[in-house]
Amino acid sequence: MARIVVVKLGGSVITDKTKEFAYRQDVVSALAEEIAGSDVQTVVVHGGGSFGHSVAVKYGLASSSFTKSPEGVWQTRSAMFDLNSMVCRTMAESKLRPYPFSPFNILSFGSMKSSRLWLLGLLKLGLTPVTFGDVVLEKRGFTILSGDTIAFELSRILKPERCIFAMDVDGIHEKDSSVIIPEINYKKLSRLSFNSSQDATGGMRKKIQMAAKIAAMGVEVRFVSGYRRNEFAKALKGEDFYGTKIVR
Ligand code: IPE
Repeated sequence: MARIVVVKLGGSVITDKTKEFAYRQDVVSALAEEIAGSDVQTVVVHGGGSFGHSVAVKYGLASSSFTKSPEGVWQTRSAMFDLNSMVCRTMAESKLRPYPFSPFNILSFGSMKSSRLWLLGLLKLGLTPVTFGDVVLEKRGFTILSGDTIAFELSRILKPERCIFAMDVDGIHEKDSSVIIPEINYKKLSRLSFNSSQDATGGMRKKIQMAAKIAAMGVEVRFVSGYRRNEFAKALKGEDFYGTKIVR
């Protein structure tokens, strides 16, 4: 069976978080070309960046808070669907054949086995499944389902060869050090302390917790810069790369 890799494209990589609705076509194009040129089958999930996140924040929508604002839900989902269609168009221009889907699709099959067969069926037919962080309705209201959580779910379903997080930093480094740690085991990872710059929004810490959960299942996780296409390509193919590997 072909090698399967789950890739999370961070919102801060595919958009410019300092400007609203600023899509980075050049970055997505470079990463898509590397995916298209590799021999691995890839399932992609992308984040919200200056589309989903900036709109969500305006309406008090976050992964740790709830809203009942129909306007906030509509605006945030609309921004995510817009971003998803831009990402998919860029991927198609790079010779991939994306299959965009809402993350809820994989839950609607009722069993992990059915979700797995569905995703494998798409891959077998030469499609690249692409999903994204979304707005989910829970008992207390609407909240954000992050792309990192979806990467975990996809890893649980697919048991891929590895899961790659393309980020706007080179990898993980310890507090007061700028040296990227090449490999770390998942138990140690949860105990590391980070600089505030790495953990300003709780984003990095949460990402790391999710990565530790994925690695605990025996799926190797790789943190790599989405701005370094060669390193991304090496990480994707399982070669040595500049970044951080999280292992069991
Ligand atoms: C956010 O997904 C999705 C929405 C805002 C609806 P992520 O939380 O995975 O986004 P990034 O990667 O941090 O931008």
